[in-house]
Amino acid sequence: MYTAHQLNQARQLAYLHSGIVLGANKDIMIGNRLDKLKRLLDNDDINDVLYSIERGQDIESFISAFTTNKTNFFRESFHFDDLKDRVVKEAINNSSGLNIYCSASSTGEEPYSILMTLEYAKALYGTPNLNYSLLATDIDLQVLEKCQKGIYEYTKVGDDIPDWIKPSEYFKRRAHPEKNGEYLVKVKENLQKKVKFQQFNLMSSPYPFKGGEFDVVFCRNVLIYFNQDDQNSILKKLFKTLRIGGTLYLGHSESPLGLTPYVERCGQNIFIKTKDFL
Ligand SMILES: C[S@@+](CC[C@H](N)C(=O)[O-])C[C@H]1O[C@@H](n2cnc3c(N)ncnc32)[C@H](O)[C@@H]1O
Repeated sequence: MYTAHQLNQARQLAYLHSGIVLGANKDIMIGNRLDKLKRLLDNDDINDVLYSIERGQDIESFISAFTTNKTNFFRESFHFDDLKDRVVKEAINNSSGLNIYCSASSTGEEPYSILMTLEYAKALYGTPNLNYSLLATDIDLQVLEKCQKGIYEYTKVGDDIPDWIKPSEYFKRRAHPEKNGEYLVKVKENLQKKVKFQQFNLMSSPYPFKGGEFDVVFCRNVLIYFNQDDQNSILKKLFKTLRIGGTLYLGHSESPLGLTPYVERCGQNIFIKTKDFL
C-alpha cells in the first residue's frame, strides 16, 4: 500500500523526531502507523501528510502515531516491591525524602503505580510525613493528556495489582458512559496532585535536571526503541541525574550497557549507582 520511499521517509522522520528506530522488518508496522497518522490528521493523501511532517508541521501527531504506548499498572511488579521494601525503608532510616523520576510514563499507569506504592509504604511504616516528589515525562502529548485525566477502564486496572494494594483507596469508580454495566476508575485527586507530568524527549541534550537530583529513576521499556549508541547516551544522561546510592529501574529486556562498571545489580533489572560516570 505504501511505497518503499514513503516507508523510508517515515523511518527517517521517526528517528529524527524521537530517536525511535524502525528496522527493515517493520514495514507492516510503519504502514499501520501511517494509517493512524492519516486518521489523526484527517488527510488521506500520504504524500501530503509526509510533506507536512518534513516541513515541521503536525509533529505532535506524528509522534503520537509512531510511539508504542503499551503499559499497565504494576508492570514488572517486583520493582514496586523493591521500592516499598528497600528504597522507602532506607529513606526513612536516613530521615531523607525521595525524589523520583519516571522517564517514559506513557498513559500514566507506571507513575500512578509508583504513587500507590509510596502511599502504601508510608502507611505501612507509620511515616505519614515522608516527603517525596514524582516527575513523570513522556515525548507523546496524547498520552500525557491521559495521564492528567487519570481515567482508566476498570477491567484493565485489576490484573497485575498486587494483593497489598486496595484499589478503592486510590480510585473512584464511575459508570462507563459507553459500555453498559462496565466501569471506569479515576485516580483520586489527593494522589493525582502528587505527580507532575511534563513532555520530554529523552533524545534531547543536555537534560534540564541537576546532577544527582533524583534518588530513583524509572526508565523501563523505552530504551528498546533506540539504537545502542542512543541507549548508551540516554543512560549516561539519566545516570548523571541520579545520586550515588540511588536506584535505576530498567525494563525486562533492557540492560545498563556502558554503565555496568558504575552500578551494582541488586535485583531483576534493579541497579544501584556506586560511583559517577567518568
Ligand atoms: C512501551 S511504553 C513504556 C511505558 C512504561 N515505562 C512501562 O514500562 O510500562 C514506551 C513509552 O516511551 C515513550 N517514548 C518513546 N520515545 C521517547 C523519547 N524519545 N523520549 C521520551 N519518551 C519516549 C513512548 O511515548 C511510550 O509512551
